[in-house]
Amino acid sequence: MQILTALSVLFLIQGALAGHPHGTHARRHRSRQITPKVHARADQTYKLVDLYQGQSFFDGWDFFTGGDPTHGLVDFVSQSEAQSAGLAYVQSDNTTVLAVDDKSTVAVGGNRKSVRITSKKTYSNGLFIADFYSMPHGCGVWPAWWSTGPNWPNGGEIDVVEGVNLGQTNQMTLHTADGCSLDTATAFTGHTLGTTCASSPADNSGCAIEDTNDNSYGHGFNMIAGGVFAHLWDDNGISIWHFPRGSIPADITAKTPNPSSWGHPAASFASSSCDIKSHFYDHSLVIDTTLCGDWAGAAYASSGCPATCEEAVADPTNFKNAKWNVNYIAVYQ
Ligand SMILES: *[C@@H]1O[C@H](CO)[C@@H](O)[C@H](O)[C@H]1NC(C)=O
Repeated sequence: MQILTALSVLFLIQGALAGHPHGTHARRHRSRQITPKVHARADQTYKLVDLYQGQSFFDGWDFFTGGDPTHGLVDFVSQSEAQSAGLAYVQSDNTTVLAVDDKSTVAVGGNRKSVRITSKKTYSNGLFIADFYSMPHGCGVWPAWWSTGPNWPNGGEIDVVEGVNLGQTNQMTLHTADGCSLDTATAFTGHTLGTTCASSPADNSGCAIEDTNDNSYGHGFNMIAGGVFAHLWDDNGISIWHFPRGSIPADITAKTPNPSSWGHPAASFASSSCDIKSHFYDHSLVIDTTLCGDWAGAAYASSGCPATCEEAVADPTNFKNAKWNVNYIAVYQ
């Protein structure tokens, strides 16, 4: 008991220092959607406050070089190492690549180099538009586009894009302190995996919604040149939309986004059962790719991937598709 308590405290401290794990295996059940509540309001307008794009993309981000809090088989490298190893760079077409090392052979059970970047600026609300041409996927691969606040889980965590291994659909998850749940009477098109947002190192499932569309994640996403994930975070809730490349609303492309015109989001977490303002604050934005660990590793045996996750990590050819290609990330308020 003593040891367990000490370990729990250690994990909490790690979480507070490093930003904590995103969602793991959630229970699956379908939600009933009755009298749906709608989040976005037509009378709201949004102004661009930050645009991360092009040759200056990395100016707004720090490279996280600590151990992976989700216990992945990765070494997150510094900016200089990432640049010299070709793991983080801006291309001449102004898109930004964040890659996993696909050249080195590593020992079975060893770590592979990857990157995890964190925005220098923090946010307590906003409309966030992330345009990706591709995302990492494959056996052992666990990419995420997410944000996290201080003193995990007290400052909250919003997982906008996340999945593992050969997954075909995106999972969207919130993690909070006690007292926040998913109101399934809200209008959203995804299906509910879990309604308890309160998370701890012992139970880190969070409240989660799975996109029903197989172009929302991984191979299916990349085959259509990706698309846009937009999420609106205000005192009324947190809603996430996914638009395939060919169906991006014109107002998003014109940088005059109007969420009230986008239809039902893929996921929506309403303030009716979660006081958004008190559970989510001072978030850093994060893009990372880890390997194996708490989710991709735990789910590996049932993923359809061969051998073991450790063996997958050892072989560089498994990581040819483990790349984020970012067009831009825009923040409106
Ligand atoms: C890249 O961005 C720069 C600076 O905004 C711009 O001048 C240039 O035309 C862009 N290049 C492409 C290929 O879009």
